[in-house]
Amino acid sequence: MPACGRQGLPNWAATEGFPTNLKVQVRMKFKTIEWKGDRVRILDQRRLPQEVRYLDCRNASSVAQAIRTMAIRGAPAIGVAAAMGIALAAKKTLFHQPEAFRKSLEKVCYEIRQTRPTAVNLFWAVDRMKRILDQVHAHGVEKTKTKLAEEALRIYKEDVEVNQKIGEFGKRLIKSGDGVLTHCNAGALATAGYGTALGVIYAAWAEGKRFRVFADETRPQLQGARLTAWELVQGKIPVTVITDNMAGWLMEKGEINLVLVGADRIARNGDTANKIGTYSLAVLSKWHGIPFYVAAPVSTLDLTLASGWDIPIEERDIKEVTHFRGNPITPKGVKAFNPAFDVTPHSLIHAIITEKGPIRKPFERKLKRIKA
Ligand code: MRU
Repeated sequence: MPACGRQGLPNWAATEGFPTNLKVQVRMKFKTIEWKGDRVRILDQRRLPQEVRYLDCRNASSVAQAIRTMAIRGAPAIGVAAAMGIALAAKKTLFHQPEAFRKSLEKVCYEIRQTRPTAVNLFWAVDRMKRILDQVHAHGVEKTKTKLAEEALRIYKEDVEVNQKIGEFGKRLIKSGDGVLTHCNAGALATAGYGTALGVIYAAWAEGKRFRVFADETRPQLQGARLTAWELVQGKIPVTVITDNMAGWLMEKGEINLVLVGADRIARNGDTANKIGTYSLAVLSKWHGIPFYVAAPVSTLDLTLASGWDIPIEERDIKEVTHFRGNPITPKGVKAFNPAFDVTPHSLIHAIITEKGPIRKPFERKLKRIKA
């Protein structure tokens, strides 16, 4: 059993200098993405944690490039970036005639859709922008520009509110003294702010619960070690980073009470695509009898897909596997495989925490109802 009683605070809370009697308000000191009117400002996540540097994207192609190269990443965050990229293209258009304007923006939507294939939030956000374009363009270019910028900002603001609701519903799952394991980064950096899986952690922490957070480093891009650890440090929440292959042993030792992850796309039967390695964690959780939770907004549901087998899985450059920060770690010319996501079958998921409440099995009917 872990050195933490279910009643009261665990031994490590006292020894690691936790503010055990303090109710901490978790506030984000950084902005993942911002609409600046004539540009989209993006916190360049490739440089974290060494450097906090912002990218000013002055056209839609540079926003698309930022998504493709993962300067911004995380399903809800790339949805917001996509919407802002389209609003930016509209703002900077050289077309005055509504039909030519609409056609040029359709090309932009197409370009943005090509950036990353797995997270459905990207396509969901493009579709929302496209609907506005189709509805308003006949009323004039200037009016459409304004409406598109408003829609992009609405998508941004809604995302923060949705995350806070997910946090409120999810915080009940965490008790003081628990060990919580998360994978990749499903925090403020992966969303417009606050986060999904980390939003649950922030909400529980803000309520005064004290528990231990473990972050899988998340090979090959190290979103856990670089990003989750960085943002929890910003929020003054202690975190312990482990390599991905340590999770099973920690579970076996009784250090983990629940696993909490985000999602990139959830099929209508509840199968969930998330960062590669999530599936292994779910299998390990089942073996050890540990609840496995997914925290995700309704925008991550894709009811057009019957099961996880239909979810397109991005494959990235094998250099992410064969190299470490530019240096080769394998023999020259060796083969490698680099799927960026995997699919966790719904049978391994205890509940999906959404802004409309936690959804438990059987998922299909309930997921359809909340998406309606
Ligand atoms: O490749 P990434 O870094 O975009 O993958 C991100 C994830 O897998 C996240 O867990 C997911 O998008 C949920 S973010 C709230």
